[in-house]
Amino acid sequence: MNITKLELSRFRNYEEASLEPCPGINLIFGQNAQGKTNLLEAVFLCCLGRSHRTPREREMIRYGCEHAAVELHCERAGVRRRIRYNLLSEGRHRILLDGEPVQRLGELMGRLNCVLFAPEHLSIVKDGPAERRRFLDMELSQTYPSYFYSLQQYNRVLRQRNNLLRALRDDPSLLDTLPVWDEQLARLAAYICRERAGFVKKLQVYAHENHSDISGGTELLELEYRPNLQADDAETALRLLEKKRSEDLRLCTTTAGPHRDDLGLLIGGKELRAFGSQGQQRTAALSLKLSQLQLLRDETGSWPVLMLDDVMSELDESRRQYLMERALPAQTFVTATEAEKGWPTGKAFFVENGTVREV
Ligand SMILES: Nc1ncnc2c1ncn2[C@@H]1O[C@H](COP(=O)(O)OP(=O)(O)OP(=O)(O)O)[C@@H](O)[C@H]1O
Ligand SMILES: [Mg+2]
Repeated sequence: MNITKLELSRFRNYEEASLEPCPGINLIFGQNAQGKTNLLEAVFLCCLGRSHRTPREREMIRYGCEHAAVELHCERAGVRRRIRYNLLSEGRHRILLDGEPVQRLGELMGRLNCVLFAPEHLSIVKDGPAERRRFLDMELSQTYPSYFYSLQQYNRVLRQRNNLLRALRDDPSLLDTLPVWDEQLARLAAYICRERAGFVKKLQVYAHENHSDISGGTELLELEYRPNLQADDAETALRLLEKKRSEDLRLCTTTAGPHRDDLGLLIGGKELRAFGSQGQQRTAALSLKLSQLQLLRDETGSWPVLMLDDVMSELDESRRQYLMERALPAQTFVTATEAEKGWPTGKAFFVENGTVREV
């Protein structure tokens, strides 16, 4: 998968900008706060239909403007595509795929895959389970649009069930309607659980190898999927949900389900989050991101676009080398505050105050 052209219009601090990246490594350099990350954000938006930095689309529209647009031309196994993301006022958007309007976000998913690695991704290793669930969900959604739909549905049913649980406090006669939601929730929960378990199993193989290679064979990284409601099929999930019913009624919320899952990350059998050193955590984050790239390639048959935001300066020479070697076949975007020398750059783009030019 390659991006052949990226055009921005009133996106963040860009008025109008256009660049034509090469299939290899594209260096994006410039001083701080000039618009480097904004370019990556625009690509991310066209791949996943959301920003990696904000849930509020309005923020991506240039100050003082009413709307913005990103247009991305890409190519995959000889097939060319054009993705256009129009950001409209009041948080609305309109997506066009080869000029045709996209009705549901799921139709965009998987058209162009990307993996972004930025310093804040250390949170996958360091922070609470929500970050790790997000990591799993993003990857699964990119790989399988059906997962994305099911997850959306699950969240909707979960919200409705929680609303009902709250409403029951005032009107106990509504209890009859609970089993309808339970059945739907159980079916979706079992599906999500199965998909996540399968994904972690595959990811584990790469993560293990990457981490071992990077650490010179001294460390063993293990991934452990920890489902909150362990069920491979809808009947089991329903039974477990029913077991929790009295607690749910008491607390007025759904206490069990994939919305409470976690992904355990261990080194030498110890929780990385609690016991890992800063260096170990950083290496693990790198191993995970690389594994994500490799797995997406396996599952989709082509290399996703890799974006490395501000990470090169944080890695030592051997890790940098390892990353570049493993990611070599992927089209890569690397940001840096000055033109880094020493590694093969296909094209270099200089970013200054919302303008970009190839140098
Ligand atoms: N909606 C917007 N309209 C206009 N400018 C914006 C908007 N949102 C952000 N900016 C500007 O974009 C700039 C930040 O861009 P970006 O995050 O891409 O910087 P960067 O080059 O990646 O910097 P760093 O090296 O510090 O990471 C800031 O100057 C900010 O004021
Ligand atoms: Mg930046």
